[in-house]
Amino acid sequence: MTDEKRTVPPTTTDAGIRAPSDEHSLTVGSDGPIVLHDHYLLEQMANFNRERIPERQPHAKGGGAFGRYETTQDVSRYTRAGIFQKGASAEIAARFSTVAGERGSPDTWRDPRGFSVKMYTDEGNFDMVGNNTPVFFIRDPMKFQHFIRSQKRRADNDLRDHDMQWDFWTLSPESAHQVTYLMGDRGIPKSWRDMQGYSSHTYSLVNAEGERFWVKFHWLNDQGDGNSYLSQDEADKLAGSDGDYHRRDLFDAIGAGDFPSWTLYWQIMPYEEAKTYRINPFDLTKVWPRGDYPLIEVGRMTLDRNPTDFHAQIEQLAFEPNNMVPGVGLSPDKMLLARGFSYADAHRHRLGVNYKQIPVNAAKSPVHSYSKDGAMRVTPVADPVYAPNSYGGPAAQPGPGPEAGRWEADGDMVRQAYRLREDDDDWSQANALINKVMDAAQRERLVGNVAGHLADGVSEKVLLRAFDYWKKIDAAIGEKIEAKVREMLGGTSDAPGLASAQSVSGKLAAE
Ligand code: HEM
Repeated sequence: MTDEKRTVPPTTTDAGIRAPSDEHSLTVGSDGPIVLHDHYLLEQMANFNRERIPERQPHAKGGGAFGRYETTQDVSRYTRAGIFQKGASAEIAARFSTVAGERGSPDTWRDPRGFSVKMYTDEGNFDMVGNNTPVFFIRDPMKFQHFIRSQKRRADNDLRDHDMQWDFWTLSPESAHQVTYLMGDRGIPKSWRDMQGYSSHTYSLVNAEGERFWVKFHWLNDQGDGNSYLSQDEADKLAGSDGDYHRRDLFDAIGAGDFPSWTLYWQIMPYEEAKTYRINPFDLTKVWPRGDYPLIEVGRMTLDRNPTDFHAQIEQLAFEPNNMVPGVGLSPDKMLLARGFSYADAHRHRLGVNYKQIPVNAAKSPVHSYSKDGAMRVTPVADPVYAPNSYGGPAAQPGPGPEAGRWEADGDMVRQAYRLREDDDDWSQANALINKVMDAAQRERLVGNVAGHLADGVSEKVLLRAFDYWKKIDAAIGEKIEAKVREMLGGTSDAPGLASAQSVSGKLAAE
């Protein structure tokens, strides 16, 4: 035995019994058959066959790390949440991800990026499950499943298909704002460390006096200006040479002691103002202009610890927008309300009903719930197992004042996502993003990115709708996109150049 081997612990089975060999199964003679009672071999094979769990439906590819959040400013006038009192801090877990790609897909595909933070607070877990963009493609959860399917893969050939992406977007004009973000630099960030994070949704807050506010969360990164990006060419090359480019960057930076941090800001809207504000403040496709609602500094998070077991700590990490602590609540945003159900349901499927007992998901504050039994329950429950009871079981004790996440709602049941207000339309905020936020070089890249995407497998019918969509956002940009696409498809002024435009299904049919 070498010295090296003498210092390592003995291999054991999962039951802690010394394993007879790491290298040889038990056979009848060295040339004979394997015997069934080599239980260590069987355990190795059986465990291996069960190593993969279902991947997240959207946001399957990602990476994450751990660290700490601290509230650095006094924002107690907005919330009574313990974690948002000046000086309060909590351990955190964060995960960044792409949306449409599978678990092994390249990090540099054009996509919004997920930006999730779990705070293990003294009052339970608080999760913010956001993106690197402040808005989203749709405003009604009925469309979410269809939206994700249109971004993933076709039924027949299991290929991704720009035709179905643009088909969905151009038939859903509320997507214009987010598609403009996606086709701009935000669609391929240089690294996760360079990204900004947003709750995107409006949440609610309530302070110790019971006063209510609406809030949007902004995590602005301290590494740069949040606009570092990869060009489409760079991203395409990296997709081939290092599919894990963003995951590697975060892991290596933290490993080298270069800890990324983000400053948390809030936009606050007084409760009553939401009723009359010129834009519906709960519509997820809109931002609140900062001129109306400026950023208020709140705190800072730093990521300083890498996972040691990716599967246990990141793959099994389960975020859910319904994890709200007292003082913070949901809002009438229909998307957010639907997410309140969807995530816990996804975790029950992906990880099992007792997923909150997996260490990375477990609260660090005491848990006294009446949930009981189920597969993989590892924390024993004690009698009494029902409430109310007269045997000293836990009893609900609501905190002082009203809860956050309460508002007036009484009306006919309808199927309609919001009544339009004075300044509500699908195009003008996308136009402002192009003309007031982007500079000339960014606009140029936007045109190039959209044209490149459209000229790759989009059918003529959908292309014509896409030109119209971009002209509604901005006439000049729309013209440029159309001219560029026609040029890329080999058109001249005599021949409009769309004859070669075919969706994947069109191509297949032609072959
Ligand atoms: C992941 C549903 C909208 C951000 C997921 C997952 C589901 C889901 C089922 C997979 C969860 C898992 O298996 O762990 C929905 C539904 C939505 C919606 C039904 C709308 C009705 C949004 C929006 C955002 C967002 C608007 C951002 C503002 C994320 C992120 C993840 C995720 C960041 C990955 C979480 C992680 O890192 O584990 N979503 N989603 N989703 N979603 Fe959504």
